[in-house]
Amino acid sequence: MRSRSALLARYPTRAPANADRTGHTGSVNRSAGPTRETPTSPATPTPRVATPTQATTLTAPGSGPAAPAYDVAAVRARFPALSEGAAHFDGPGGTQVPDAVAEAVAGALSVAISNRGRLTPAERRADDIVHACRSAIADLLGADPRGVVFGRSMTALTYDFSRALAKTWGPGDEVVVTRLDHDADVRPWVQAAAAAAATIRWAGFDRETGVLDVGDVEAVLSERTRLVACTAASNLIGTRPPVRAITAAAHAVGALAYVDGVHLSAHSLVDVGGLGADFYACSAYKFFGPHCGFVAASADLLGELHPDKLEPATDEVPERFELGTLPYELMAGVTAAVDFIAELVPNPPATPTAGSAPTPRAAAGAGTTPAIPATLRRERLGRSFAAIEIYEAALRRRIESAVEEIPGARLVGRAPERTPTLLVDFGSPERNDEVARFLAERGVNAPAGSFYALEASRWLGLGDTGGLRVGLAPYNDDEDVERLVAGLRAAAAAGPSA
Ligand SMILES: Cc1ncc(COP(=O)(O)O)c(C=O)c1O
Repeated sequence: MRSRSALLARYPTRAPANADRTGHTGSVNRSAGPTRETPTSPATPTPRVATPTQATTLTAPGSGPAAPAYDVAAVRARFPALSEGAAHFDGPGGTQVPDAVAEAVAGALSVAISNRGRLTPAERRADDIVHACRSAIADLLGADPRGVVFGRSMTALTYDFSRALAKTWGPGDEVVVTRLDHDADVRPWVQAAAAAAATIRWAGFDRETGVLDVGDVEAVLSERTRLVACTAASNLIGTRPPVRAITAAAHAVGALAYVDGVHLSAHSLVDVGGLGADFYACSAYKFFGPHCGFVAASADLLGELHPDKLEPATDEVPERFELGTLPYELMAGVTAAVDFIAELVPNPPATPTAGSAPTPRAAAGAGTTPAIPATLRRERLGRSFAAIEIYEAALRRRIESAVEEIPGARLVGRAPERTPTLLVDFGSPERNDEVARFLAERGVNAPAGSFYALEASRWLGLGDTGGLRVGLAPYNDDEDVERLVAGLRAAAAAGPSA
């Protein structure tokens, strides 16, 4: 097995000569368009009847109470957008945003703020926001804050990393991508490999079940593999591949593992170290935050990479990868989103202990959620995600059973390990669009498309057009599910228009 350093050093690159301290300076479904997934045509949602606050105590199958009570009405009350009345099953394309996140963004823009520094209060505020955001993402992902890189989107970050990594690739080298991945974790690697005259190897997956197994990846690994790019969960059919086994297989041949966690991070507590990901990418707008992305890696590994950058910009890590001035207001919003998740379920009162300082965001005064002692946030995130997983899985099972009974509807992908994201095929692209429009007219947002998981859609025999996607988020409730199921049944009963 090659060492990581050897991997990066095989085709040595020129390290930037100059260094200073501070850097200065987002589907529509089937066609080219913005990377950000967008829903189908707009509709006037049906106003909802408010449901009384009712907490559900969640129990893991076969065990005692495993997660704290989940009060979906209280959660919903935090999302101003939900008062517009739509039932949102479009979370995999971007969730709605809680009040605390909007307030944190506005808060950061309502006070004096400068470029990062420690001289003036305005400089310190910017600097504090950046550090607070890195620690929030580190807590969310079980990562090292010193290796958290901010980017405009996962796509932009992955392009940047692919170019930086490809500086060390050459003819004979191989890069593995999968048929299950979103195009953002495919095309940047395909294009970077082509530019470096390296070879792309494709890992397929089981079309019947939707399962991508470690054997699918091992089948295309070799001693020449330099990088394996693999999703932690499919945004199209929800499949969760065995990431730990895949990264171990990559490491066994001396390759690096780049994991797309955009879809998974909205549904599960991630442990980047435990997953064995050398790089783990996610997007804050999928988990209640503003529109931006992150890559988490070890600071040491980042230090071995030399992305293109401006000469006067700092060569420090992670700033070396963060081209231009950081958007402090978005970063304040990201911290608020992570804190919001940490407080999603009731927590035992925090008893201050030595070293349990408030989170830096609270110290910086950006946002409105109460300070969470930094030492407790990861633990609280774990409690929240345990509750979210059980809650979303129960809603998913209800939808699945209902869809199975709907004439003409076929559930695509039934991997045992998956997120609460369902793809339903009504037999043709036109019909899938028609059902999505039918639902949208009734205030149920469940768009149709391939959602940029183009290879997966093609591999599944759905061409470039995919199907109708139903994605759950923690704010979905029984009434949402009833509206969705009623809409799907009515669409089936109405039949195709042509
Ligand atoms: C699984 C997955 N990967 C990558 C992306 C791209 O993320 P971004 O919009 O941050 O570029 C998406 C967006 O939908 C996604 O769902």
